[in-house]
Amino acid sequence: MLIRAATAKTNAPRRYDHIKAAPIAGTMGAEITGVDLRKLGDAAFSEIEQALADHLAIFILDQDLSVEELEAFTQRFGAFGADPFIEGMKDHPHVLHVRKEANEMAPVVFGGLWHSDWSFLEKPPAYTILHAKEIPPYGGDTLYANGYLAYESLSDEMKRVLCSLTALHSAERGYGAQMQNIYAFLENMSVKTGGDASTRVQEHPLVRTHPVTKRKTLYVNPVYTVGIKGMHPEEAAPILAFLNDHMTHENFTCRFRWSPGAVAMWDNRCCLHLPISDYLGFRREMYRTTVEGERPYLES
Ligand code: OGA
Ligand code: MN
Repeated sequence: MLIRAATAKTNAPRRYDHIKAAPIAGTMGAEITGVDLRKLGDAAFSEIEQALADHLAIFILDQDLSVEELEAFTQRFGAFGADPFIEGMKDHPHVLHVRKEANEMAPVVFGGLWHSDWSFLEKPPAYTILHAKEIPPYGGDTLYANGYLAYESLSDEMKRVLCSLTALHSAERGYGAQMQNIYAFLENMSVKTGGDASTRVQEHPLVRTHPVTKRKTLYVNPVYTVGIKGMHPEEAAPILAFLNDHMTHENFTCRFRWSPGAVAMWDNRCCLHLPISDYLGFRREMYRTTVEGERPYLES
């Protein structure tokens, strides 16, 4: 039987000298305290990198970063990632202002389906950083799912088959021209849909090797993975449906309850995320950056 379960050591914390890490679930995710990102020494920075590799998503609590400080923190990890379809802030093109006002009656939120950020790019972002300024009094949590565990729990034969497959990714479902009326609801975000960028197909290995941890992880998601190379759509659809359901099984997930000042940082290479749309009537305001990743690859 296919068993989907984390073990006690799956998300165990290390002892650190400069930060404190408290896991929020058995599967993945840890809250980080005892650090001020505005004055972060190299040793503390390395510990943050280690925590990210261990926990896949980290939530650094009680920060108060200006847009410039968020940019500076982001750039310590590498170059900014590209943000197709969404317009950045004036004078800060790499920062997205993710917000929804209390009087917006939209039934949708930005990114409201399980996904890995911009997986349709040739070099999808390694990390996304989201800094909460204002959050609803309740609701607006974000869920995450662990792609390593999803891969590791499969049978050896299934792993072997999946490692031979190339997945097709495209922005079409999320940002195709047909989505314009949906985004018209997001009054405070400027989203441009359609065009060649939305229909372009990008190939990535369906299982990828994480460049830091060297572990293998599933790399598919229900929004941007649109097919499997060489297969008819009718053949690929049930395989992808199984993998999406499998990877987002509750046992592989954690749920982050935001607090103002939290800086969430997740690794798009090995986890999916899902913002919950349940805060109509409340304001939620975040600043967001990404760090460019490498081209996904699978090491045999
Ligand atoms: C994102 C995203 C999650 C959230 O910024 O990429 O999916 O909780 N947002 O707003
Ligand atoms: Mn996202």
